[in-house]
Amino acid sequence: MADFDDEFRRHLRSLIVWRRDVRCFRTDPLPHGMLEELVALSCLAPSVGLSEPWRFVRVNAESRRAGVRAEFERANSEALAGYSGDQARLYAQLKLAGLDRAPVHLAVFVDPGTDKGKGLGRRTMPETLEYSVVGAIVTLWLAARAQGVGLGWVSILEASRVNAILDVPEHWSLIAYLCLGYPEEETQTPELERAGWETRSGATLPLVER
Ligand SMILES: Cc1cc2nc3c(=O)[nH]c(=O)nc-3n(C[C@H](O)[C@H](O)[C@H](O)COP(=O)(O)O)c2cc1C
Repeated sequence: MADFDDEFRRHLRSLIVWRRDVRCFRTDPLPHGMLEELVALSCLAPSVGLSEPWRFVRVNAESRRAGVRAEFERANSEALAGYSGDQARLYAQLKLAGLDRAPVHLAVFVDPGTDKGKGLGRRTMPETLEYSVVGAIVTLWLAARAQGVGLGWVSILEASRVNAILDVPEHWSLIAYLCLGYPEEETQTPELERAGWETRSGATLPLVER
């Protein structure tokens, strides 16, 4: 039986507090087998009906990586056009992806066509299939951090274009495009907070009683 003592709980708290969305990576590769180990752990995440609807694609081909990078540039320029004044100036300075240096690119999809789980829970809340994949990604995020590996979630991409670039089944739906690698620095403060874009709500707990 697992023994989760106070020391473990202290470490777990540190893991959660020190997890960051990372966008500045060192280029050195992950050790052989590390990504497989992290993906295996993330597959232990909960999933609606035990449907395990996650599909992981490690993107190695430079041509496909370049395609995703170009798609990010396109979508990011479009996003920038939606801001004006000081916000536009600040947005233009933000670093919103680590696509250039991260040694690992990992696209994560949901397969809505899966029969696994026999539909349990999905009749009333079909979106739980997507939530399940997000749970797997957060598990991966924490497992990576525990190995000193940073993860950056890139969502400034048109999902259907990523399907085409990666040549995956059309019915898969992109949940996340992830960059993984060793971070250039470690910090307790989110990058967007340091850049003056947004702050953590910290003091107010979003919890009410009924
Ligand atoms: C669903 C999701 C999508 C995200 N997409 C992006 C993104 O496209 N670009 C980016 O720079 N950060 C992205 N992030 C990271 C958030 O900006 C980051 O989690 C937040 O600022 C808090 O920082 P922290 O993760 O370091 O605590 C995303 C995070 C989540 C959960």
